[in-house]
Amino acid sequence: MFFRELNRGKCKTYLLGCERTRHAAIVDPLKENTARYIAIAAYHAFRLDYAIDTHTHADHRSGIWDLAESTDATVVMDRHAPAPHVDLHVSNGDELEVGDLRVKVLFTPGHTPDGISLYVEGHLLTGDTLLINGTGRADFPGGDAGKQYDAITGSLFKLADDTLVFPAHDYRGNRCSTIGREKTTNPRLARHTRDEYIAIMNNLGLPLPDKIQEALQANQTAIEDDSVKFPDVAQLSGVHQASVSELRARLALGNLPIVLDVREVEEYHDELGHIAGSRSIPLRALPNEAGKLENLKQSEIVVVCRAGVRSSTAAAILTALGFEHVTNLKGGMLEWNEAGLSVER
Ligand SMILES: [Fe+2]
Repeated sequence: MFFRELNRGKCKTYLLGCERTRHAAIVDPLKENTARYIAIAAYHAFRLDYAIDTHTHADHRSGIWDLAESTDATVVMDRHAPAPHVDLHVSNGDELEVGDLRVKVLFTPGHTPDGISLYVEGHLLTGDTLLINGTGRADFPGGDAGKQYDAITGSLFKLADDTLVFPAHDYRGNRCSTIGREKTTNPRLARHTRDEYIAIMNNLGLPLPDKIQEALQANQTAIEDDSVKFPDVAQLSGVHQASVSELRARLALGNLPIVLDVREVEEYHDELGHIAGSRSIPLRALPNEAGKLENLKQSEIVVVCRAGVRSSTAAAILTALGFEHVTNLKGGMLEWNEAGLSVER
């Protein structure tokens, strides 16, 4: 197997390839390095089959979409990933074929709800779930230290002790560790109970990264241009949230809010379907099309998307435009479907 880290910085991007067939996958590419990655793959005569993000990144713009546009690589993320334009959603246990290689997907949420790790030939790409001598912070929206502990101890630490660990970030110049070493020496995990781990993670006191607004919302929405001015943290945290069961109860009573679906048009008709009677305006078109909703400024509007993340952005935008009763559907169409509720396609 060809295996190489391409950035030599704090953010790690990995190229893994089959030496015989020259098929390859790139994991966690940075948008600003897209041209360099294509040059490296071409130099080694690799065909890029997959551009994979281990999770929705908060500290850099993802390069998966730019790479896919230039190379025809398939964009891969976990099924909980909020962004549109993911060609292949994966789940725990799935395998990706990269020539003769089999890349196994392990669902490892906690740093984000959409975290995956990738295992291939004794190499484990841990994203920001397990770092060398650390773990990815769990205090961003959707983070969950308990789930992170369960994923690390219940899934990653079940792999052989000599499995090589390659994280998506390292701030201390480390390049590689092993599962055995992290089990025994990782200061957040070794000899700590689940409750102790949660307490450690809840008391890290880290500041938010500089570019979190630009990077996170761009990666969550795959909006690369200036078509949408993203709301700030205060606007987002002010969004009123409703659960799937609350919305279902409202709809059953015939007490009907306007349901506004802000996914791309192709998602509105995809396997998750849409709520009967909902109106479709993709997020990227919302700033221009909000004028068409002018007569709904006093109406109750529930905004819906895939995972409830893009719709939070849309709800904050509408609220700022003077819409008075806007609510976000928490968990989006993923949870709506998981609850077994009916959809149209
Ligand atoms: Fe991250």
